[in-house]
Amino acid sequence: MEIVIVETETSGAEVLTGIVRRLLGSKPACVLGLATGTSPRSSYRLILDARRRGELSFAKAHAVLLDEYVGIGPDHSSSYRRTIRTELTDSLDLPSANLHSPDGTAPDLLAECARYEATLARLGGVDVQILGIGTDGHIGFNEPSSSLRSRTRLKTLTKQTRADNARFFSDADEVPNHVITQGIGTILDARHVVLLAWGESKALPVGRAVEGPVTAMCPASALQLHPHVTVVVDLAAAAHLELADYYREIAADKPVWQQH
Ligand code: GLP
Repeated sequence: MEIVIVETETSGAEVLTGIVRRLLGSKPACVLGLATGTSPRSSYRLILDARRRGELSFAKAHAVLLDEYVGIGPDHSSSYRRTIRTELTDSLDLPSANLHSPDGTAPDLLAECARYEATLARLGGVDVQILGIGTDGHIGFNEPSSSLRSRTRLKTLTKQTRADNARFFSDADEVPNHVITQGIGTILDARHVVLLAWGESKALPVGRAVEGPVTAMCPASALQLHPHVTVVVDLAAAAHLELADYYREIAADKPVWQQH
C-alpha cells in the first residue's frame, strides 16, 4: 500500500485528481469507479474545475458506482445514482449511458446483482476505484463480517452505518435497511484502488485497515491483499498509523503515487 499523508483534505484531493487526470490521459476510454459520501467531494470539485477549464474529458469514459440503496429509485434525492449525478457526472461530458449503477428498485434484486457483475465484466473491469471508508471499516457497503471474496450482492446495513448516513436523508427512519453493493472481491478486481479518508472519525478505521490484521471485521483491511492501493489521508485520519513517520519519509524520498 502507498500511504500518502497530506496536511489538508485539499492536498489529498489534488493527489486523486492527478491520478484521474493521468488515467484519462493514458486511456480516454477508461472505467472509473466512483464512490459517494463526503470523502470524495473535494476531489470531485477539483475534477469539475479541471473539466471546466477543458483540461480533461470523459467523453469516452465509463463511470461505475459501488453501491445503491434498496427500495429508493434512481431519481430519489438520496439515491447514490442521483447523488453522483448531482455532485459530478451531470456536469461532466460523460455520456449518460456510460454511468452504471445497481438498481435498488429492480423487481428481481438477485438478478440485478448478477446483471451488475456482468456489466463490470463487459466493461473490462475498473481502472481506478475511488473509495471512502466507513467508521466501522466498511468499503462500499460491505459491513463487518462480509466475505473477503464476496461479489455484488444484497447486504443489511448495521445500526452504526444507518446512523452515519442519516445526514443524507430528511429523517433517520428513512435510511433503508438494505443495499446492493459490489462485494469485496469485486472491489479487489479494480486495477488501482484509491482510498480517501479525512478527519479524526476515520483515524481508527484507517489504522485497522492499513496496519491491522486482514479480517472480515474490518472489510477495508482486505485492501492489503491488493497489489496497487493508494491510501490518501489527512493528518487527523493518520493519527492511529504507527508507521506514519516512515510513510512520510518514503513519500518525501520518492512520491510514488505521482508515477501512476
Ligand atoms: C457510505 C458509502 C461508502 C462511503 C462511506 C463513507 O456508507 N456506502 O461508499 O465510503 O459511507 O462515507 P463518508 O465519505 O461520507 O464518510
